[in-house]
Amino acid sequence: MGLLQDTATASAWYEAVSSIYDPLVAETFWPRRLQRRLLDTLEFATGDRVLDVGCGTGVTCDLLAERAGRVEAIDLSEPQLRRADQPESVEFIGGDAHQLPYTDETFDAVVSVGAILYFVDPVAALAEAHRVTRPGGELLVAGFNRPPFPTLNPVENVATVANETFFHTWGREDVETCLTAAGWYDGDSEVTGPVWHPRLARVATARKAERPR
Ligand SMILES: C[S@@+](CC[C@H](N)C(=O)[O-])C[C@H]1O[C@@H](n2cnc3c(N)ncnc32)[C@H](O)[C@@H]1O
Repeated sequence: MGLLQDTATASAWYEAVSSIYDPLVAETFWPRRLQRRLLDTLEFATGDRVLDVGCGTGVTCDLLAERAGRVEAIDLSEPQLRRADQPESVEFIGGDAHQLPYTDETFDAVVSVGAILYFVDPVAALAEAHRVTRPGGELLVAGFNRPPFPTLNPVENVATVANETFFHTWGREDVETCLTAAGWYDGDSEVTGPVWHPRLARVATARKAERPR
């Protein structure tokens, strides 16, 4: 369990780093260009209901709104939400990924970039995402990769040790286990990342099974 994998600690952390989040953290770890490429793999269309879990200052929401037209977004951290632009296309609320305040089967797609790192119980949060997704709906969750350790790349080794000390990390099998335990179907994952560390992130995708006829 990472040191920042705790709801109260994550809140305090974002209270401290929120003022530098956009220029330093977002572009370093979850650059807009990377996020755009990931979101392009999803199939939701204009008019679909899309939820961004752990939306932070709204980087992912902007990209989702470009396609969906409108996005609902939730984050634990009030300072992060205060820093978000408040475009009409995004409805921001404060709340916890482990207890989403939406009724069952509300969304066509649920997306979460860079937030699962902090979740106390990633499977419970993925199960909540599953609950609020309609049958046949899609999921994309980007977290930190758990690569084999050590490697010949010193930057990668330092990043791996740091990530595992502070955050939830996942490898291919972890993703499969988490998605299956949370009820998702057709799960898969890919390794990607920013230019300085192209294996930093592991991005999971899955679908909610259609109802049996
Ligand atoms: C690295 S930021 C990512 C923000 C945004 N998705 C982006 O790509 O810029 C992680 C966000 O997850 C939020 N977060 C952490 N734990 C959470 C939880 N249990 N429920 C909801 N949001 C949470 C933090 O407040 C923070 O804003």
